Order: sequence, then structure tokens, then C-alpha cells
Amino acid sequence: MAPSKRVVVLGSGVVGLSSALTLAQKGYSVHVVARDLPEDTVAQTFASPWAGANWTPFMSKEDGPRQAKWETATFNQWVDLVPQGLAMWLKGTRRYAQDEAGLLGHWYQHITPNYRKLESSECPPGAIGVTYDTLSVNAPKFCQYLQREAQKLGVTFERRLVTSLEQIEGGFDLIVNATGLGAKSIAGVEDQEVEPIRGQTVLVKSDCKRCTMDSSDPNSPAYIIPRPGGEVICGGTYLVGNYDLSVDPPTINRILQHCLRLDPSISTDGTLEGIEIVRHNVGLRPARRGGPRVEVERVAFPLERGKSKLSLGTARADSSKPRREVPVVHAYGFSSAGYQQGWGAALEVAELVEGAIGAAPARSSHRWLSKL
Ligand code: FAD
Ligand code: LAC
Repeated sequence: MAPSKRVVVLGSGVVGLSSALTLAQKGYSVHVVARDLPEDTVAQTFASPWAGANWTPFMSKEDGPRQAKWETATFNQWVDLVPQGLAMWLKGTRRYAQDEAGLLGHWYQHITPNYRKLESSECPPGAIGVTYDTLSVNAPKFCQYLQREAQKLGVTFERRLVTSLEQIEGGFDLIVNATGLGAKSIAGVEDQEVEPIRGQTVLVKSDCKRCTMDSSDPNSPAYIIPRPGGEVICGGTYLVGNYDLSVDPPTINRILQHCLRLDPSISTDGTLEGIEIVRHNVGLRPARRGGPRVEVERVAFPLERGKSKLSLGTARADSSKPRREVPVVHAYGFSSAGYQQGWGAALEVAELVEGAIGAAPARSSHRWLSKL
């Protein structure tokens, strides 16, 4: 039997988990190494616990054709997960400032059921909008589901802080780098285009099923994202380059007042006092100037020292010895959209892995035969 192809996935947020699962489904032997794991549901050191997490495209098909493809694939994955209660249908409404009349070219009108433009009477003065049916997942529970599915296929998990790709390359045919903001400082990656976008939200107990996104006032972005489990996430803020993990009290009031205007049903009695607050959250979206990076790079080990400020090569590369080249498939920089793009991006990761190291040996569909 052909030896299995061994892949190490660095990172266990929604992107690393989705990648690990698709790779295991294709028959690769997968090991996940990460500082934060899905059980860390309140760790601010990674983004995935803090997402809404709803499906709302931010780019037109022309500006982001890959993103649109990833989002389409993920939408279909979430539809399939509704019967298990892992995803939930929502009545979605988006309101924009008048100058965004293009509404992203309406590209997703053929994906989201019941899509239509809002009448002017349904929008605040000067705003326009659309309504459609969309979906959300409960972010921490969704990550735990992905981990369980991966474990069923033999994927193993290890909690470890990695400061250099050199610390994990040995013994693997390929590395998937799904480290979110970590990509900025891990030696061998050191992508200086990576930056946080700080997001503050309020988690509220509510059975509301309407998802409202309001960007009609650039000074007060606001959204209400219901998720499975009788909770809604009220947001939010988008502070580029801001690493502050503390809750800002004036922002709480701004968010709750705006969300209450958008949909009074988030409150038990329509007042601020009637909003049942579960928790205040701050998460850092792992953004990248230029957009997500999903591509293969061939990295030579040991890393060349002195090539960058951060290079932490364990030994000075001996120029007389051939260096070992390992393909690294990068998958980071998903900013506000790691959930809605996660499954589609993972399918592309799997294609890139196959292109770099070949298909995995076919999984035997008759494992029980070996017991005879
Ligand atoms: P992360 O979740 O950050 O995971 C990175 C992984 O890499 C972690 O396991 C971490 O421990 C590991 N790692 C990093 N560095 C190292 C290291 N040095 N050594 C070892 N391991 C390391 N997206 C949506 O699609 N829909 C939404 O509605 C939505 N709402 C959001 C609301 C808020 C307030 C926020 C903050 C985000 C929201 N997002 C949403 C965005 C989404 O949360 C992110 O895009 C997504 O979680 C990114 O996942 P990731 O796996 O790329 O990165
Ligand atoms: C966010 C969601 C709305 O990033 O995508 O806050």
C-alpha cells in the first residue's frame, strides 16, 4: 500500500479546522498544531471564537472572484448543516449609504433565497438596502463540530506555540499555514501586510431570527446577528491596526442603542434595560492588506538567517549542504469573512495540496476487510 502523505496544519481556527477536515476527507494524514484550540472558547489570542458568524458578502464578484467562489461553496455547506442545528436560517437585511447603490452587483441574489431591493420606505433617509434569506453558525460550537469531524477521520491535535516553521517541518510532506494574525511574526512567513481589525460586540440572549447589517452611517456601523442557541451578537467596530483587547464602555452604549433602533425585538420590553446581556466581547479580525493569501510557497529549510528581522533559524544554513524544500500552503488574512469563506477556501487549500504533493492514497472503503 502507498505510504500516506503527511500534512501538518498550523492553526486551529475555522480556516485551519476546515482545511484539516477537507484534507482528511481526501485521505491525507493530518496533524494540527496550534496555540489555541476549539475548546478555548473565550481566548482573545485568536479570532474564531468571536465571530457573528453570519454569511454576508463584502465584495463584488468583479473585485473578489475567489471570495465569491469560496462564499458560494460555504453557503452550500451551511445549508446542509441546518437539519443538525449547526446552521440557522435568518431573514437578512442590509442597509447601505446611498452611494453604494451597486450593492456589490447583487451577485449573491441567485444564492440567497427571497432576495429583493428594499423600498425607500423600508430604509432610513438617504439609505438603500436589500433583503434576503441567509444563514449563521454559532462560532465556537461550529469549530468544535469541525474538530470532531476531523478527529473521526484520524486527525490529531497538539497544543503548541510555534515561533518558526522550522519547528514543525520535520516529518511532514507539506505545511498548511492557517495562523491568522500569527502569520505576521512566525519565522519563515513574516508577512508584514497582516494587521488586526478590532471588533467589539455584545452577546445578548434573544430568540430574534432577523439578521440586520447597517453600514448606512460610516461613523456607527451596526449589526445584529442571531446564532443557533438563542443568542444574538450585536456589533460592532472595525478599528484597523488596533490590538486593544479591553472592552470600551462608551462603545457598548453606542452599539446597543443603534441595534435597538434597528430591531427592538432584541430587548424583552423594547428598552435598553430590557436587553439581556450575556457578555461583552472584543476580538481581532486577522486581516491582510491586499486580501487573503491562499497560495503555495516552496520554503527552503533550514531558513536562511539574516534574511529578515525575525528569522529564527535554529542553525546557520550550511551552504555546502542542500537545503530541503517543503511546500507551504498559506491560508490566512480572512479578516471579516473567515467563516463565510472558510469551507470554500479549504477546498482550494486541498486542491493546492494535491497539486504540490499529489493525491493521497485512496482511503479503503472496506477497512473491515483487514479484520478478516
Ligand atoms: P484564527 O481564528 O485567528 O486562528 C488562528 C489559529 O492559528 C489559532 O489556532 C491560533 O492559535 C494559531 N496560531 C497563531 N499563531 C500561532 C503560533 N505562533 N503558534 C501556534 N499557533 C498559532 N467572519 C464571518 O465569516 N462572518 C461573521 O459574521 C464574522 N463576524 C465577526 C465578528 C467579529 C467581532 C470578529 C472579531 C470576527 C468576525 N468574523 C466573521 C471573522 C472571523 O472570525 C475570522 O475571519 C476567522 O475566525 C479567521 O479564522 P482563522 O482560522 O483564519 O484565524
Ligand atoms: C464582522 C462580521 C459582521 O466582521 O463579518 O464583524
